[in-house]
Amino acid sequence: MARIAVVGSINMDLVTTTARRPEPGETVLGTGFETVPGGKGSNQAIAARRAGAEVEFVGAVGDDLFAGELRRALGDAGVGTKRLREVPGPSGVAAIVVDSAGENSIIVVGGANAALTELSRDDLAAVAEADVLLCQLEIPAPTVLAAARHARAAGTTVLLNPSPAQHLPPEYWAEIDIAVVNEGEYAELNSALAPVPHVVVTRGAAGAVYRGPEGEVTHPGVPVHAIDTTGAGDTFTGALAAHWHEGPATALAWACTAGALATTKLGASSSIPDRAEIAAALPPRS
Ligand code: RIB
Repeated sequence: MARIAVVGSINMDLVTTTARRPEPGETVLGTGFETVPGGKGSNQAIAARRAGAEVEFVGAVGDDLFAGELRRALGDAGVGTKRLREVPGPSGVAAIVVDSAGENSIIVVGGANAALTELSRDDLAAVAEADVLLCQLEIPAPTVLAAARHARAAGTTVLLNPSPAQHLPPEYWAEIDIAVVNEGEYAELNSALAPVPHVVVTRGAAGAVYRGPEGEVTHPGVPVHAIDTTGAGDTFTGALAAHWHEGPATALAWACTAGALATTKLGASSSIPDRAEIAAALPPRS
């Protein structure tokens, strides 16, 4: 079983459903509202755990009403929370609007995630003990760099999902073993990704492609009826990390299947499939 350390964000998602998203200056009537634990770090941690890995989460919640539910969501999924600290102020939140086509718009307000500026000796020990370090960009970027450098020195594989997209100086990319990007990010990042040995490009409903020392491996989309794509990329990334040690073809199959299943339910953490569900839906080996 792979051991994974996630150094990342955790948010409460405020999810509004509506027939269509409003234009600037327009008010529309919604059809529903739910609060669902989310955040790219937490979603990927839960996805990796459900796909079969042992996972430790390093992150921060605030001291508000959301904090307890966010901590419980990780614990209930079986993710280690010993390195989840509580800091004064609000937890991270994401205002999400999902329309009837399953498309979303998201605004993230970092809150406690922005306080993750230092990693303790115990945080770094969790990184060093893992097989894979999993990071995103919803916490301060220098913290990601510190975690990645420590991981590299300890022989831990570093997987970065550089989302939400932002410019990173070249020294960041030099510490990354695997980058998981969508097609838009891939086109934009272009030569910045040159030092990264393994690059996985997600293509939405069309599946994903791996490029690296093992050549090019393509996995087609897994057909499903999508109602909400929120968290599908996170589910893909968590499952990929959990199965990375089995090689790119197997890891892509688990990731594409898990990501597709995640689009069939509303919300982020609430839609992440478990190992048995993914295994049952895996396409037959060609
Ligand atoms: O990737 C989906 C996630 O993005 C949501 O859970 C939201 O919290 C934002 O971080």
